[in-house]
Amino acid sequence: MTGVITRATPVPAPGMPGRVRIYEVGPRDGLQNEQEIVPLEVKEEFVRRLLAAGLPVVEATSFVHPRWVPQLADAADLMTALGDSIGEAARDCPVLVPNERGLDRALELGLRHVAVFASATETFAAKNLNRTLDSQLEMFAPTIERALAAGMDVRGYVSMCFGDPWEGPVEPQQVVTVGQRLLEMGVGELSLGDTIGVGTAGHVTALVEAFTAAGTGVDRLALHFHDTYGQALSNVQAGLRAGVTTYDASAGGLGGCPYAQSATGNLATEDLVWLLDGLGIDHGVDLEALVATSAWMAQQLGRPSPSAVVRALAQSTS
Ligand code: HMG
Ligand code: MG
Repeated sequence: MTGVITRATPVPAPGMPGRVRIYEVGPRDGLQNEQEIVPLEVKEEFVRRLLAAGLPVVEATSFVHPRWVPQLADAADLMTALGDSIGEAARDCPVLVPNERGLDRALELGLRHVAVFASATETFAAKNLNRTLDSQLEMFAPTIERALAAGMDVRGYVSMCFGDPWEGPVEPQQVVTVGQRLLEMGVGELSLGDTIGVGTAGHVTALVEAFTAAGTGVDRLALHFHDTYGQALSNVQAGLRAGVTTYDASAGGLGGCPYAQSATGNLATEDLVWLLDGLGIDHGVDLEALVATSAWMAQQLGRPSPSAVVRALAQSTS
């Protein structure tokens, strides 16, 4: 014993799934929000170490306009460097593409997984994509169609699912309308984003129920929480009870969104892993390797990780 407990004691709770898929977004959602541009070698090592820690999916970067997100302007170079270091596995790392131009860039590199990202609100569609609510979907339709025709998997994000800093509360029905249009266009999985972290557990339950009432099974849904108001883990538990088994999280709690100032860090992957371990839910991630990766990343960024679990364990894993 070192005096630090390094793993939660598994005490299963009723009504929870047996296994959860963690969809890691740190290299994309985390690093898109950094003030300083992170060197390509650091990004490459970050993705590589996350995969080595057992994360089944690591979203690597975005093929967006480099003027809009300069932090990820090196997307093509990163994917090429990853191809050199980890081979085929690089092609399985998803990337964000907002439009056909982004898709072309992903296709040129032979990538297999892309994600489009819609807004549930008019204002955020304008701020994040320079489009209206309807015209964002018109932009995605040919992007999704061509990606599917090329044999890619397509994920669809919906942002501002719980509240919007310009428009206030967002009704579940508004989110369902946008989400269902993406599903009709052919996205395989829908990730419901609490971009600014204002959601609470009952709201999560209501949103998942609104989707199931509209005919969308929980197997098509993922939940994407930001921890701005400290509700992310509580919201995950509501999602688990509703039967959702895919959760987005960001190593070390990096993150935010450059086009929503009130979006602070994502749910930290380590905090999610601790909760899942405690509930006896399988996830396949090596917590020790993950914490060591986030502690290393915190050093690269020159500030401590906001994750409670990283702070508690970093000493014992370094
Ligand atoms: P726009 O200015 O309307 O672009 O931006 P456009 O379609 O008018 O094209 C203008 C020029 O940009 C053209 O070049 C295009 O080729 C070029 P020109 O002919 O003038 O030389 N262009 C591109 N270049 C490279 N890659 C591209 C691309 N597209 C056009 N993909 C656009 C529209 C969508 C491009 C822009 O608004 C954009 O890039 N937005 C990205 C914003 C972003 O990445 N936000 C963060 C991700 S969302 C998020 O974090 C939320 C999430 O985590 C979930 C949650 O938390 O809720 C997913
Ligand atoms: Mg996000």
